[in-house]
Amino acid sequence: MSETLLDRRDAPAPSRPPRPEPPIGLLAELTHRCPLRCTYCSNPIELETRSAELDTETWKRVFTQAAELGVIHVHLSGGEPTARKDIVELTRHAAEVGLYTNLITSGVGVSEDQLDALVEAGCDHIQLSMQGADPEITVAVAGMKGAFERKQAFAEQVVRRGVPLTLNSVIHRQNIHQVPVMIEKAVEFGAKRIEIAHTQYYGWALKNRAQLMPAKADVDRTIEEVKEARERLKGTLVIDAVFPDYYARYPKLCNGGWGTRTLSVTPSGKVLPCHAAETLKHLDFWTVRDHGLADIWYESPAFEAYRGTGWMKEPCRSCERREVDFGGCRCQALALTGDPNATDPACIKSPHHERIGDLARTEASLSTDPGAVTYRNFGAA
Ligand code: SF4
Ligand code: FES
Repeated sequence: MSETLLDRRDAPAPSRPPRPEPPIGLLAELTHRCPLRCTYCSNPIELETRSAELDTETWKRVFTQAAELGVIHVHLSGGEPTARKDIVELTRHAAEVGLYTNLITSGVGVSEDQLDALVEAGCDHIQLSMQGADPEITVAVAGMKGAFERKQAFAEQVVRRGVPLTLNSVIHRQNIHQVPVMIEKAVEFGAKRIEIAHTQYYGWALKNRAQLMPAKADVDRTIEEVKEARERLKGTLVIDAVFPDYYARYPKLCNGGWGTRTLSVTPSGKVLPCHAAETLKHLDFWTVRDHGLADIWYESPAFEAYRGTGWMKEPCRSCERREVDFGGCRCQALALTGDPNATDPACIKSPHHERIGDLARTEASLSTDPGAVTYRNFGAA
């Protein structure tokens, strides 16, 4: 036997990366249909139609498989999840298989009877979107008259039924001046938590970026406002905050890491490692129509593509933060550099970092023109 062959025989077998941990969260995008027309919508430009949506039995199977896989929370989302006639049945099934159910809703079309049925079916938590702290800004952002008043009434009904309520406020140039009032409204509405989340520029929001990008000084002010309110409202309201990437020094750990903590299922059943992943056209996303959820999580090439650090190029490959942020967001890297394998330009080590900061400052300095924002149109869905 030659020495080379002996060497090969004695060499350890190539090590397979360790099996990933199971996911903890499932984002179930039950439908893309929605009564609101928000300027900051992060859903894809191309919406999935009603006729393409998964049927009730398939969603139930997905929830059963999610629970078996180890998922703890299911976020019933969309679009507007209550636009589905089977929302109560789906909530009941998710609760019965042991999932913690969080309904993510605009609240504008939910009747008291429907809310009662959802609570009875086992809805554990409700997350209500808040586009502005008053009717005027809410109309300007969500494109629907009367939305603020309906949301306020819905919040009261939720709290009266003893269901924990979180408000979710996506922040941008149209409403950034209202952050302190939004926090006060959350207390007034009886919410336990508010998320102050600066817009992520994916999907529709990317189209409106020039009209939505806030000025750096305004972002810095909100950081102070959140800090002050957290201190003052300790024990009354939890305030979570996500600040904009374009002004950051380092990127965020997107979705807890690609294929690490969560998975999303689109209305038609495609399973994605993150909400915006369909922009990564080179990946093939398996669907729940053809595969079990565990198979997709552990075996599908799209989930493997950016798991861990093996895919990284420099500067990420040798960076001390590579297991902190895992190179940032793949969807943002693609949107801003054209290369999904590039370092997220939110990172100071990216060769594109300075350009992105300049772009944000330029866009933020443009005069605001209400006629220049494009409202979402769900006609197609
Ligand atoms: Fe994160 Fe890569 Fe930047 Fe390092 S170089 S901080 S791993 S994005
Ligand atoms: Fe897709 Fe960040 S949104 S990886």
